[in-house]
Amino acid sequence: MKANELRQKYLDFFKSKGHAIITSASLIPDNDPTVLFTTAGMHPLVPYLMGEKHPEGNRLVNAQKCIRTSDIDEVGDTVHHTFFEMLGNWSLGNYFKKEAITWSWEFLTDEKWINLDKNRIAVSVFAGDADAPFDQEAYNIWKEIDIASDRIAKLPKKDNWWGPAGITGPCGPDTEMFYWAGSKYVPEKFYSEDKKWVEIWNDVFMQYYKNENGIYKPLPQQNVDTGMGLERTLAVINGLDDNYQSELFINIIKKIEELSDKKYGHADDITRAMRIIADHIKASVFIIGDDKGIAPSNTDQGYIVRRLIRRAIRYGKQLEIEKQLWTKDLAQIIINDYKEAYPELEKNKNFIFKNLEIEENKFSKTLVIGERKIALTNTAITGTVAFNLYQTYGFPLEMTKEIIAKKGLKIINEEDFQKELKRHQDLSRTASAGKFKGGLADASEETKKLHTAAHLLLASLRKVLGDHVQQKGSNITPERLRFDFSHPNKLTDEQKNEVEKLVNEAINANLPVIINEMPLFEAKKGGAIGVFTSKYGERVKVYIIGDSLSGQSAFSKEICGGPHADRTGRLGKFKIKKEQSSSAGVRRIKAILLS
Ligand code: ALA
Repeated sequence: MKANELRQKYLDFFKSKGHAIITSASLIPDNDPTVLFTTAGMHPLVPYLMGEKHPEGNRLVNAQKCIRTSDIDEVGDTVHHTFFEMLGNWSLGNYFKKEAITWSWEFLTDEKWINLDKNRIAVSVFAGDADAPFDQEAYNIWKEIDIASDRIAKLPKKDNWWGPAGITGPCGPDTEMFYWAGSKYVPEKFYSEDKKWVEIWNDVFMQYYKNENGIYKPLPQQNVDTGMGLERTLAVINGLDDNYQSELFINIIKKIEELSDKKYGHADDITRAMRIIADHIKASVFIIGDDKGIAPSNTDQGYIVRRLIRRAIRYGKQLEIEKQLWTKDLAQIIINDYKEAYPELEKNKNFIFKNLEIEENKFSKTLVIGERKIALTNTAITGTVAFNLYQTYGFPLEMTKEIIAKKGLKIINEEDFQKELKRHQDLSRTASAGKFKGGLADASEETKKLHTAAHLLLASLRKVLGDHVQQKGSNITPERLRFDFSHPNKLTDEQKNEVEKLVNEAINANLPVIINEMPLFEAKKGGAIGVFTSKYGERVKVYIIGDSLSGQSAFSKEICGGPHADRTGRLGKFKIKKEQSSSAGVRRIKAILLS
């Protein structure tokens, strides 16, 4: 089976069960300070899981592009990726466990759909703890379907609970489906630790909200959130025990073989390096090629792409790839493989090529400087110095070792390298934990007001600077708004004052904030702005600020999920605190609301 066919079957199946097909959201979440990337199909849907009305109804299905960097150390095995696609279906307070599980089973095993061997499937359910009881209901449904007790594992929260996506938000017990990817002798008893049992699908019953104090409260509605890994499922359907052998990777791997003149599968370290390169360059292509286009930089998402590209290049060195600017060759293959499902890649391909080229050149220079520094040393290098080389120049320990070994030197106190690395990782984890509050799940009055202020800001920027201004991302905490937009130059003081003045005038006019639902094409025709692509012509929500009945035109019309303040008068005084560069051609404003 081909990837396009599997995607389509999934969408068709759930359409036949009354679901509306929605387009994959951007990889870069809007208004969410809790995570850098869209990590799951449910992530853009958080406001709807919490009770906002979705314009397409309460049964949804899609294929969502996702980035997860939490598993980066596992990339290199047969099943982990930083970029992957999630096939998902949702019930927003509509059906619950019975339908979700029965439909999952039907899709997996019915010959009309993907027809997997029933005897190779096992499942797990939530065992229960102090926060929520054993999921007897899910267990009973699987028993009714006729799964043997030995094939139903009861597992604790660390295995069978999903969410929230940040620190707070919707979450709940889940039931997971596994497929035996081993030999034809399938064990009677299911052990989830056995790597041959590959997890392919997760049905989450989102009925709780985890708050800042770690307490699980029932949500106003009972939701279903499911996620099936496209890469893994495609591999098992085709009888492969390695995702990188599937159609979604094979062309990339072939190109790496050609560039390195080495063979995949011949030696473990070569195979691992090839998988890491394939994964990291694919993830980079999708991040840079997203409609919100992120270029490599030293902050946020840009920093992640930078690390992915540089890590891939380092593994390229391990494979002795000699060609310069080879990451572009891989990007071309990836764009070809994916352009039908994700047309934005073809549309943004020059931006992708240009940024890969710039980054590869920058990294080569960094490596040369680092090499020179090491070459000047005539004494042994300590683990701490080696770590600094790694931090500053991206110089891996192995490369430092190799270079000084040529001079007969070695690293002393090597364990300090690992110590520093761990300390640094802990620090950055703590730093990001600070960011991990609220997010899309934070519908507090403060965040709603700042969200409405973001719409007024974009409209004002366009009035002052021109219609070329587009939103490139926004990040809202209860304290402040951070807003990125396309504009080539630094704003003058006059421009900043003018923007601030326009926003405050709109606030003082106490304009109403009105929601209209309509098909996307109609929204665009009516002049609504917003980075929103749609393959399925879905209905969207348009937030209109100040479409007064007196016939005046609206101050702002934006496609957006909400939620928002109901009138601008609630916002207080708008103040720009900072205006600075974010990346090439993108400016960043930090602003607050004073009460
Ligand atoms: N959100 C669930 C997951 O990512 C479906 O596994």
